[in-house]
Amino acid sequence: MPEKSDVRAEAVTMDTLVSLTKRRGFIFPSSEIYGGLASAWDYGPMGVELKKRIQEFWWREMTQLNDNIVGLDAAIMMHPRVWEASGHVENFTDPLIDCKNCKHRFRADQIPEENMKTHKCPDCGATQLTEARKFNLMFTTHMGPVEDEGGLIYLRPETAQGIYVNYKNVLQTGRVRIPFGIAQVGKAFRNEITTKNFIFRTCEFEQMEMQFFIHPSEDAKWFEHWKGKRMQYYIDLGVRPEKLRWHQHGPDELAHYAKVAFDIQYEFPFGWKELEGIHNRTDYDLKRHTEYSGKDLSYLDEQSHERFIPYIIETSAGLTRTVLVVLADAYDEEVVEGEKRVVLRFHPRIAPTTIGVFPLVKKDGLAEIAHTLSDELCEEFRTFYDESGAIGRRYRRQDEVGTPFCVTVDYQTKEDKTVTIRFRDSMEQVRVKTAEIAPTIRRAVKEYKRVPGGSPSAADGGGNGGTQA
Ligand code: GAP
Repeated sequence: MPEKSDVRAEAVTMDTLVSLTKRRGFIFPSSEIYGGLASAWDYGPMGVELKKRIQEFWWREMTQLNDNIVGLDAAIMMHPRVWEASGHVENFTDPLIDCKNCKHRFRADQIPEENMKTHKCPDCGATQLTEARKFNLMFTTHMGPVEDEGGLIYLRPETAQGIYVNYKNVLQTGRVRIPFGIAQVGKAFRNEITTKNFIFRTCEFEQMEMQFFIHPSEDAKWFEHWKGKRMQYYIDLGVRPEKLRWHQHGPDELAHYAKVAFDIQYEFPFGWKELEGIHNRTDYDLKRHTEYSGKDLSYLDEQSHERFIPYIIETSAGLTRTVLVVLADAYDEEVVEGEKRVVLRFHPRIAPTTIGVFPLVKKDGLAEIAHTLSDELCEEFRTFYDESGAIGRRYRRQDEVGTPFCVTVDYQTKEDKTVTIRFRDSMEQVRVKTAEIAPTIRRAVKEYKRVPGGSPSAADGGGNGGTQA
């Protein structure tokens, strides 16, 4: 195995992530050829795979592993009354302050107290700050040919409301009874004033939300249940537990709909920040929709004959924010034989590519064998075939995009139908029969544990010994 030093990157910077993810096809600035659009980002070939894997893992956790949770995909554009009922028209605001001199705009909580007192702009120093005024974060647009009040609609600022307004439809058709949940993944839009830190806070983003409908007397029990499940999700995703913590909302922080709220926070390069919120929304939303729509949204328990408005425990995760967490958490550097190795230590279950397949050289029939293997393996795994450049460089390229396994076809393959599997974290290589590739990798994905400088390998029982290629 190559010589490794213990030097590891302790803290990745945002600049490093922005440049690596652009260089390796994860995330590009939006409309870049026109100079970009502030805070908008596009997901490239690697980024879209990573985002999909995270989403699939969430969807599986929610709908496949819980027979009382069903899925939904509601429209982004909804009746405008929805947002009056939800309280967003009235309450979904940030207090904003403008500088009349330099025209910069700030959220009130970003201005130091001293500046507030003197009305002094933190940017230009002029004492021309305005008083704070409420600014609604919802984007508006118009439906139909005339841009008048009648056609005014909003882009949804959360996916949750699409679930509430469909709750009766799901109840009537989904063969579910309380307690049950509805899960949804989709885009949400907020006219955020401060959009920095890459994809952390953007105006267009994706959420993975699950609304769990319960009897009001069971809210504490289910709140604890979902708290536990949601923290475990990130650990199963491969995020280091020491980088995760809870933050309970104080009375000043609670959203207008929440009785109790806890955030899962991650230690980003710029500090501890929210990744997901778990909220006890009580019967607030269903009561408000009952009031505004005039439709009865109560629930009749057929056994006890009790009629009540269900409480809702909400788990609300940012999908695009989770992409940032996973990237920041996976980033690692080490010095190998005197050279810096950059490696994204993704959990294999979410890595954009699972197996890199390489012929040692293109000639002498090795490329054909590698192609055939790649074609077989891609039925089950996400594979990437690469025959260009020195083999060491090909490994390094895969390290940088977090590919956990590389299979190399060499001259010995022609003699005894064996290949090497190289493990990303440990850089260990083992020889296995071609028929053993899939079982070995299947097992390694299942048993994966992130250990600095090492990962499960065929040496744990999957291969034919530890011969190095
Ligand atoms: N339905 C409840 C709700 O939307 P939230 O705390 O406002 O709650 C939930 O948002 C999650 O959505 C956050 O924890 C965060 O991960 C993500 N999120 C919110 N605003 C975001 C933004 N502007 N950009 C990226 N992600 C955002």
